[in-house]
Amino acid sequence: MESKYKDLVKLAINAKELAYVPYSKFKVGSVLVTKKGVYYGANIENSSYSMTMCAERNAIFKAVLDGNRPEDFLTIIVNGDTVEPIIPCGACLQVMNEFFSTDTEVVLSNKDGNFKTYKFSEIMPLRFKELI
Ligand code: THU
Repeated sequence: MESKYKDLVKLAINAKELAYVPYSKFKVGSVLVTKKGVYYGANIENSSYSMTMCAERNAIFKAVLDGNRPEDFLTIIVNGDTVEPIIPCGACLQVMNEFFSTDTEVVLSNKDGNFKTYKFSEIMPLRFKELI
């Protein structure tokens, strides 16, 4: 189990290098595992700052456009050059909420590749969802 996550964290560290971050210089990488495949994400910034898209949402949107639906999402791994494992922003949590179940695995990792694993419901305990 642990080694499975170690390899996925390495992939997220590699994905981080795809980030386009001329403004913050803060690279984030993500790897999303679904029943259909593995999707990489990295943050993409914009000179109009609010147009920036986070690594997590880029990976999720790629997966949705590849035909994945809520029942297909298994695990997301996020990596950033933080001291403690990086924590997804509120916008990413809300998008995760759209597609993840309470049990979807979320692996958060730091600059050294150290990681902590959570169920989605642990990092977003109270969730808005219209269609329930
Ligand atoms: N960012 C992510 O990609 N994911 C997160 O979980 C937190 C923040 C990005 C957005 C922006 O490009 C940079 O990190 C600094 O906020």
